Amino acid sequence: MHQDIAYVLLEHDQITTRVRELAQQIDRDYADVDELLLVGVLKGSIMFIVDLARSLQRHVALDFIAISSYGQATETSGVVRVLKDLETDISGRHVVIVEDIVDSGLTLAYLRANLQRRNPASLRICALLDKPERRTADVVIDYLGFHIPNEFVVGYGLDYAERYRNLPYIGVLRPEVYRGR
Ligand code: PRP
Repeated sequence: MHQDIAYVLLEHDQITTRVRELAQQIDRDYADVDELLLVGVLKGSIMFIVDLARSLQRHVALDFIAISSYGQATETSGVVRVLKDLETDISGRHVVIVEDIVDSGLTLAYLRANLQRRNPASLRICALLDKPERRTADVVIDYLGFHIPNEFVVGYGLDYAERYRNLPYIGVLRPEVYRGR
């Protein structure tokens, strides 16, 4: 597994430190709120949402949503499909969407609009990674871990063909791994 990584972009310690900082920022911003609802976007956000939740010093509820990646044909339209919806009624709740990476921004643009229609008390976005070079949709990220270059990254929840999610760090995948398939 590790031999498929060209180089490590973010060591586990760097990620842990930054996640704690984000949690402190969120704790400060929601000091007056009794309970936050963290919405993880499956599957990439799993490691991030777990570490973030463990660092928050307040009541949090967790829920998850899964949406399909748009295919080539719909890439510019931003049309995505909900594969697994939330179990929680979010109306009147303070919601933070937790994402691993913002690439084109289409997923989050869709998700924000979709959840906003359900009348939450507030709705913010927390993303670990941002690839600004790839952005086509306008998305405001309220809490961001790291800006990263336009490289194929895996690890800490991010996959290539469902592999590498369990790497503790975030690394750049060797091109021969995805070119060879
Ligand atoms: C990835 C990532 C985001 C989305 C970002 O999910 O987790 O949800 O793509 O891309 P965008 O900004 O261009 O919309 P993916 O579809 O790979 O599913 P996964 O999280 O299950 O790996």
